[in-house]
Order: sequence, then C-alpha cells, then structure tokens
Amino acid sequence: MAAALTTGLEHVLPLGSRLNARGALEVGGCDVTELARELGTPAYVYSEDDIRARARAYREAFAARTERFEIVYASKAAPITAVYRLMADEGLSCDVASGGELHLALAGGFSPDRLYLHGNNKTEAELGFAVQRGVGTIVVDSFDEVDRLQRLAPGQRVMLRVTPGIKPETHEKIATGQEDSKFGFGLDDVPRAIEACTDAGLELCGLHAHIGSQIYELSVFERLAEVLWGMGDYPLLNLGGGLGIAYTAEDHPPSVNDYADALLTRVPEGVTVLCEPGRSLVGNAGVTIYTVGTVKRIPGVRTYVAVDGGMSDNLRPMLYAARYEAEIADRFGGGDLCTVAGMHCESGDILIRDTELDDPRPGDVLVVPATGAYGHAMANNYNAIPRPPVILCREGEARVVVRRETYDDLTLRDA
Ligand code: LLP
Repeated sequence: MAAALTTGLEHVLPLGSRLNARGALEVGGCDVTELARELGTPAYVYSEDDIRARARAYREAFAARTERFEIVYASKAAPITAVYRLMADEGLSCDVASGGELHLALAGGFSPDRLYLHGNNKTEAELGFAVQRGVGTIVVDSFDEVDRLQRLAPGQRVMLRVTPGIKPETHEKIATGQEDSKFGFGLDDVPRAIEACTDAGLELCGLHAHIGSQIYELSVFERLAEVLWGMGDYPLLNLGGGLGIAYTAEDHPPSVNDYADALLTRVPEGVTVLCEPGRSLVGNAGVTIYTVGTVKRIPGVRTYVAVDGGMSDNLRPMLYAARYEAEIADRFGGGDLCTVAGMHCESGDILIRDTELDDPRPGDVLVVPATGAYGHAMANNYNAIPRPPVILCREGEARVVVRRETYDDLTLRDA
C-alpha cells in the first residue's frame, strides 16, 4: 500500500508524489530507486502530469478573471523539447531567449506566431533566424536593436521591454526591474523608444516588463501593472514572470490565483495581459536523483555526504546561495544533520549545507526536490562530467526525453 507523504515536503515535490509499499518515493507513478537502477544517476526526473496541471492552473486562474490573457511559457526554465511539446499541447505561448531556445521551441512543435523572442543583445543571426521562421513577436530591448530590426525585419510585430524601476525582494542576480539594469528601456526613454519603433516601421503592439524571479511579494506585481498601464493605451501588456516556488518545507509561496489577482486588478478591461511564468510551471515538477558515493564523518564538525553530481547539474546553490532539501529516496524523514557535497574539484561545490538524512550510506539514492527549473537549463560540463538525462514520468511509465551525455559526446566537437 502506498503511503501519503508526511515529511512536510508535499508542496515541494511533484504533484501526486507518494511513498510506495517499500517506502520509496514515486514520481509520476515511477519508483525513483528503480529509475536509478535502470537508467543511472544523476538524473532529472519530472512528473508529466504535474507540468500539465500547472499549465492548466495558470490558464484557469486567468480565465476565471478575464477573457483577455495569454500564458507564455518562459522556456529558459526548462528548455527541453518534450517540455515545449507539453506546453504547446496545453495551449500556452512561449518565450524564447535565444536562437537556441527558438530552435528547441520549433522542434517541440510551437507555432512560430505563438513565440516571443527576448534578449538584451540578440545577434543579427538570431534576429535573422527569427524573421526567417516567422516568429510572432520580438521584444525590443534597446535603440540599437530598433536600428537592426529596421534593416532586418521591416514591419515586424514588436513589444517594447520597459525597465519599470521596481526592485523586488529577491537575489540581486535575478532582479531585473530596477533602473540600474542591462535590460530594456528606462521609463524616461520609453517615449523616445516608442517613436523610434514607429519611425522604423515596426508594428508596436504593447509593452513588456519582467521585474525579476523567485518573488513572493505580490504588491510589486500590482505596482508593475500600474506603471505599465500608466505608460499609454496599449492593447497588450506583458507583465513577465517571477512567481516564486517552494524549495524547502518552510517555503510557502503565494498561489497562482493570488498572483493572477495581483497582475490583473490594476489593468482596465479590454487590455490583454500576458503572463510569462517559467519557474512556477516546472520547478516543483522535477527532482534530481543522485547516488551517494562517500560519507565522511568529521566528529564535532560535519558529515559530508557526497553524490555523483553537483554544480554541473545544479548551479543554483553556488550562484545564488539557493537552499534545497534532500531525502534518502527510500528512507524519508531522517534525523542526521548532513551536508550534501558534489563531486567537483572545488570546495564550494556543496549542494545543500544542512539537511537531515536517515543514516546515509554509499549506494543510497538521494533525491533533491524542486530542481525542475534552471537545473537542466544551467547544466554544464565542469570537470568534463557528462550531463544527466531528463526523464518524464506518467502513470508509472518513464520516458527518457533527453539521453545522458556520454564521454564520446565530450569529444564530439573536437575539430
Ligand atoms: N520573462 C523574462 C523576460 C525572463 O527573463 C524570465 C526569467 C522569465 C520571464 C521567467 O521568470 P520565472 O517565472 O522563471 O521567475 N537562473 C535563475 C533565474 C533567472 C531568470 C531569468 N529570467 C535561477 O535559477 O534562479
């Protein structure tokens, strides 16, 4: 008989996760210790139903409040062809932040007219690629880009990225709405930018702003809607993404319904609001599974539990001091204070400074929840470690949608 989860991590793990009769975690009906045995570790394991449910929850939350909205998947959170396909299937539009993401979105079946191309320095090649493939909307970020588009994409439908002068409470590396930002047009420049777009023959359809990421405070979104609406009478306002998620048991982010309220209350009827979530669509849908390799107990100091991954599959602890929790996949709820270390050659390669595990031993499968966003997306090959596969699970069936990298992949680009 499967047991409900009672470790306080219910809201951090993918929807429908449970402990099976053996006490092992199941994601999308798949026992993660069996996945580890069959497909190896480390691996990113997602619940497909969780992704679909969150996409639907966004659409339903907005549909309950307005007829005029569009949910745009910010695909930098999980640029995985199969995930693009799920989002397209759920009726979302898509934000791509580079030519590479554009390539993946098209491979995932997105219709080009549902795509929004972002970036503070899109190259001529990227703009040319976007135009050639018929990307619906390009979000213009600078005066230089207006010039470039005049040459490369006459008549292109565009939105203008505005830096609204709002600094949300979040890690400074992921705050983007403040005046001192590399992104977009400052409020003083907006009138001139609008004029430049018109003079360049571009079809300006609305304004865009994204103030930052992993935000819990809803008042900043209300303010954002007010500021953008105050800039002029535009039929479309894209208010970006940024809703925070739970990484640990103590984290309790606002609901999508409350977020939708914050975005919509200050916008008059008749305006179409675009919302561009990334993290909150996929972050909690995925976990990373590792195998414990060594346990080093330093009496009175610390217990290091080292796993077969680290900063190459999850950069967030090192970049943003992001906090995670872990469990032994088939012994949830342990009480030994441990530090989960990666396998890379630097001391800073620590995935979790403090987490409680149940008597960790070499060979145990360790699960780190809430790695579905910006994990695979920021994976790298430091120490020439091959990148993990992506596995989508649904009703007990596991599908490898991105295979594990091999040593041969590491020499594939040698010229
Ligand atoms: N729209 C734009 C224009 C963005 O730049 C972003 C994220 C989003 C939407 C989606 O934001 P979200 O809903 O995921 O918060 N690597 C960092 C996050 C960087 C976010 C960059 N832009 C991290 O791991 O926390």
